Amino acid sequence: MAERPTLTTSAGAPVADNQNALTAGPRGPILLQDYQLIEKLTHQNRERIPERPVHAKGWGAYGTLTVTGDISKYTKAKVLQPGAKTPMIARFSTVAGELGAADAERDVRGFALKFYTEEGNWDLVGNNTPVFFVRDPYKFPDFIHTQKRHPRTNLRSPTAMWDFWSLSPESLHQVTILFSDRGLPQTVRHMNGYGSHTFSFINAQNERFWVKFHFKTLQGHKHWTNAEAAEVVGRTRESTQEDLFNAIEKGDFPRWKMQVQIMPELDADRTPYNPFDLTKVWPHADYPPIDVGILELNRNPDNYFAEIEQLAFAPSNIVPGIGFSPDKMLQGRIFSYADAHRYRLGTHYEALPVNAPRCPVHHYHKDGPMRFFANNPDPDAYYEPNSFNGPAQKPEVAEPPLRISGDAARYDHREGNDDYSQPRALFMLFDEGQRRRLFLNLAEAMFGVPDFIVERQLGHFEKVHPDYAEGIRKELARMTEAKAAEWSHRQEMGEAPQAAE
Ligand code: NDP
Ligand code: HEM
Repeated sequence: MAERPTLTTSAGAPVADNQNALTAGPRGPILLQDYQLIEKLTHQNRERIPERPVHAKGWGAYGTLTVTGDISKYTKAKVLQPGAKTPMIARFSTVAGELGAADAERDVRGFALKFYTEEGNWDLVGNNTPVFFVRDPYKFPDFIHTQKRHPRTNLRSPTAMWDFWSLSPESLHQVTILFSDRGLPQTVRHMNGYGSHTFSFINAQNERFWVKFHFKTLQGHKHWTNAEAAEVVGRTRESTQEDLFNAIEKGDFPRWKMQVQIMPELDADRTPYNPFDLTKVWPHADYPPIDVGILELNRNPDNYFAEIEQLAFAPSNIVPGIGFSPDKMLQGRIFSYADAHRYRLGTHYEALPVNAPRCPVHHYHKDGPMRFFANNPDPDAYYEPNSFNGPAQKPEVAEPPLRISGDAARYDHREGNDDYSQPRALFMLFDEGQRRRLFLNLAEAMFGVPDFIVERQLGHFEKVHPDYAEGIRKELARMTEAKAAEWSHRQEMGEAPQAAE
């Protein structure tokens, strides 16, 4: 057996005894001088950091993006040039559950990717769905509050969820996906990922294109029904962690085909839908997916806390050749994530190894928590402008000007928006079995919610397709009958109170 390294204090001095506290006599008490005991206890008290306010439960791994296609006429980003191979890390997650939540829950899955490119980190912080529940970031905190615990009961509240959704018809598309088969994937290996927002590409001629990113699973889609998931959670709460970790450990590396949809810049004024609306997809027939390459995950992290819990993604992390778009939700997210990281991890969170770019980094930010990295090459260049050869801006990477216009106002984002056609297109894709499971999943989720809310929501499903509302109504009626039968059986058995005269 290899010689064991010496146990040391965190200051590096050897430790004589790690089993017995320092006491006055064998029965104690303990001496304050036992600094090693104090250090162990105080370190333990600081082992937790705030969990992410959303997407707290997650699973991650390292991998590579290999570009096999040629989209160089759309983007100059080096990470997307033919033949490029870029190291990356992925973190998948559920949205609503806390850090210790069970994995096999019906919820949207996060699909966050950090590419360590030679031009800086590019983060694509998407989901396993191409759309989202709201289209204005002003509504995101309200929406998330309905998914988290009720302030008084400390329980999840189906009433709050359906109240919000039924008052927000823009959620219909995502609600339909969430309660379809794809809303409960067996593992993250068996689901697609989407950048979801519209981003922009800029090519070597400084022309702009709008772009959407897709990652198609090469493992095939696999889902649980609600009943199967309940059985899985009864067996293990960590089904996804086990699946992803073990697959990579035994060399069965999960892969996704990366594709983009490209829209010429000026088309954005012509589409019948707002191409910057996160509740809408771009139909494939209008903007066919183009193959870009293969994403493969092939290495497990060695320390979950250091590499996955402290991993920090931000949609604000883009590189030359990739840009933002006028999507309001994206604009809200550009602000929100780095703010969350400064609170959750500390000011210089990007200096942590898992977040650090793998290219030279030079900036003029100064002190604060985690300022352990080196100065700029000349320590006299700690402000700008300076005469000491400090880091200088690079005008060549400036984006072409973006045409925008309009009077500043709070525009009603629900006005003139068709919230029904795209959920209908999805509903029409479902076969009979998929529809049956959709109706059942929705009815199970809505059962017990006050009638006026259920009716308001059924009104929206009706506008998507009469069969949609009808299917859920039938399931709800069946559940009500079953409940009534169970109640009368319990009364007969003397297990339930008699109804008041
Ligand atoms: P297409 O038939 O050209 O594309 C259908 C898309 O839907 C494919 O990407 C497919 O993904 C996906 N899909 C197939 N079955 C399901 C399902 N049961 N649940 C969720 N997604 C599914 O049609 P359109 O592009 O015109 O889109 C029609 C509808 O499909 C949209 O309204 C939207 O709801 C949904 N969709 C569209 C996407 C897009 O970017 N256009 C992306 C994802 C969904 P896969 O190839 O992996 O099976
Ligand atoms: C996590 C905000 C919408 C995907 C987070 C976090 C915040 C946040 C604060 C926690 C970050 C952290 O502590 O590390 C918002 C806001 C949104 C929004 C304000 C809307 C305005 C979205 C959308 C998507 C998305 C539309 C997907 C398309 C994710 C993912 C994570 C996350 C995947 C987890 C990242 C990780 O694995 O660390 N979000 N979010 N979010 N969000 Fe959002």
